[in-house]
Amino acid sequence: MKNYAIILAAGKGTRMKTELPKCAFPILKKPMIEYILDNVEQSAIDEATLVVGHKKEIFEEMLKDRVNYAVQKQQKGTGHAVKVCEDILGDKEGQTIIMLGDMPLVDYKVINKAISYHQDRGNDLTIVTTKYEHPKGYGRIIRNEYGNIEAIVEHRDCSTEQKRIKEVNTGIYVVNNKKLFSAVKKIKVNKRKGEFYLTDIVQIMKDEDLIVGTIELWDSEKVMGINDLYTVSIAERYLRDKINKDLMEKGVYMISPNTITIGHDVTIEQGVTIYPNTYITGASVIKSGAKIGPNTEIHTSIIHQNVKIKHSLVYDSEIGKNTVVGPFAHLRNGASIGENNRVGNFVEVKNSSTGDGTKAAHLAYIGDSQTGKNVNFGCGSITVNYDGIKKHRTIIGDDVFIGCNTNLVAPLEIGDNVFIAAGSTVTRNVPKGALAIARNRQINKRDYAKNLIKPKDDN
Ligand code: UD1
Ligand code: CA
Repeated sequence: MKNYAIILAAGKGTRMKTELPKCAFPILKKPMIEYILDNVEQSAIDEATLVVGHKKEIFEEMLKDRVNYAVQKQQKGTGHAVKVCEDILGDKEGQTIIMLGDMPLVDYKVINKAISYHQDRGNDLTIVTTKYEHPKGYGRIIRNEYGNIEAIVEHRDCSTEQKRIKEVNTGIYVVNNKKLFSAVKKIKVNKRKGEFYLTDIVQIMKDEDLIVGTIELWDSEKVMGINDLYTVSIAERYLRDKINKDLMEKGVYMISPNTITIGHDVTIEQGVTIYPNTYITGASVIKSGAKIGPNTEIHTSIIHQNVKIKHSLVYDSEIGKNTVVGPFAHLRNGASIGENNRVGNFVEVKNSSTGDGTKAAHLAYIGDSQTGKNVNFGCGSITVNYDGIKKHRTIIGDDVFIGCNTNLVAPLEIGDNVFIAAGSTVTRNVPKGALAIARNRQINKRDYAKNLIKPKDDN
């Protein structure tokens, strides 16, 4: 028998008050729905269908063919959202796990546990429940005198008595696939909200003497539902703590870990030190001995052994061994820095590569260029890569010394062992071994200054 999944993500998420639909909203720079799908793909589920509606193109573009799409044109409630999957799943033999797209902390173990419990018990419907000290917003589990589930009542429909119940519906259900679709057809619209509640299948299936059971989860954080930006922050904190704890146990030293944010897809080796207020996200890799932070952001970048980065931004870049970056450097858009480099104070590197041993210690812009080994960029040197219409490249050889305050006007090629005098504006290629001086000659006018009017003391 096959296992199918239905994941509901058609809602706008009105309570979020964001442009993006709720289930596409990122947590640690990764959309919520991707967390669920990663776990679905690791679980016993054979095929997943995603219910989309509001801004569905965002999901289709993001997830491509990872899932089947069922479209819910109007969001008429969770029951209606399942109903629109009938064309895809209606005639399938097997069982279906239904999940909400707004539970990013769910993991594949929870999914597998629910499926195997459902099978072992021979249930027709299994509701995954949990208990919360403050269950506001969740549907409550109503049990009869024998302790069996009778119904799920939404928070807003609960009596004062029912509001005291701490056991809630997590929004995960395992159900016999064919019986699901016959039950879903019988859901009536909820008068108060004007929606079809999926939770009504509990009573519907019980009335037909089908076997309805529950399984209670103890780690209730894993099934928390996201409803607004405050709950996003709770989920984010949970994920951050979990990721940081795993890393610290593997030998990553974090100073003030509660100020450090590491994304889900980041790899950090043992022996790395991370200082406060540091964000590392995307598929970044940090190799052993590196010291990162404080106040540093790294996104989708590879940082090799023993690199030091302080107070800097590094996006889509790679930094070779033993290089020192910062303070206040900005590397972006395919910067590929060699080993033993220095990318210092207020230096920006964009779409450029440098060879080993190259240095730009202060105030430089290196854009659209390729630089050799042991090059020294003096303070204030700039690759002038943009003519107002197009970007041009600068190619610099090995062992080049670029004096302070130099403009290298691209397109330009500088040979090996070149020396460029400070203050030059270089517009023509410089051959190997040459000294280039491109500035006005200094004139000293003898005794000229001595007759100038001196500023008064009281100025
Ligand atoms: C739902 C449950 C509640 C449970 C809680 C757990 C119902 C009626 N209520 O409430 O019992 O305790 O989750 O977090 O099911 N969606 C659609 N189409 C729609 C409506 C919603 O696809 O027409 C999707 C949303 O995109 C969202 C998910 O279903 O991902 C849940 O919707 P939401 O409105 O957040 O339900 P809750 O009020 O949290
Ligand atoms: Ca919710």
